[in-house]
Amino acid sequence: MKFFIDTANLDEIQQAAEMGILDGVTTNPSLMAKEKGSFKEILAEICKIVPGSVSAEVVSMDAEGMIKEGKELAKIADNITIKIPTILEGLKAIKSLTAEGIETNATLVFSPMQGLMVAKAGATYASPFVGRLDDISHNGMHLIEQLVVIYENYNLPTQVLVASVRSTQHVVQSALMGAHVCTIPFKVLSQLIKHPLTDSGLEKFLADWKKVNKG
Ligand code: G3P
Repeated sequence: MKFFIDTANLDEIQQAAEMGILDGVTTNPSLMAKEKGSFKEILAEICKIVPGSVSAEVVSMDAEGMIKEGKELAKIADNITIKIPTILEGLKAIKSLTAEGIETNATLVFSPMQGLMVAKAGATYASPFVGRLDDISHNGMHLIEQLVVIYENYNLPTQVLVASVRSTQHVVQSALMGAHVCTIPFKVLSQLIKHPLTDSGLEKFLADWKKVNKG
């Protein structure tokens, strides 16, 4: 499973890149709004740090506008993926950008049929928002299970990109279900390597090492 980081913060992206496990980055307008500076410059910086896919979201509501924005954003770097909303106009934009060889990420996917539609339009990634489904008492991870099966049934090349991840358990379940990508906030990413038994075991090893005759 690929690990993307879900942030536009350069510090967090740099730290995650240094961990040696980072495959890509996802941003959205809300994440961009937390950062200072021009969003195009931020995207260019991110693309320098991370060679993998970097999602940049369009804000037009019509296909023509989305395509125009998408083509502009794609000029920033070769690894830009255009994030398109999962609406009817978005399908047209996905089809057109895909035909031009530009990677797309269908965002705000909340149902299996939305996932199938964006895959049929040719999306590189489909982003189901699991945390937001959990928020309204649905089972977000059930959607991941369904999408993995649907794409496998028809050999669709679209990758399930688990988004709106809130906990390490979302990541564990994503890996068990065979999701292709999980985009993870920095806080959760940092928690994935932690275990209290590792910490206490290490503390004991270091304490015992002081008793070892080093001569
Ligand atoms: O990847 C989508 C993500 O940024 C949304 O997360 O926590 O706002 O639902 P959240």
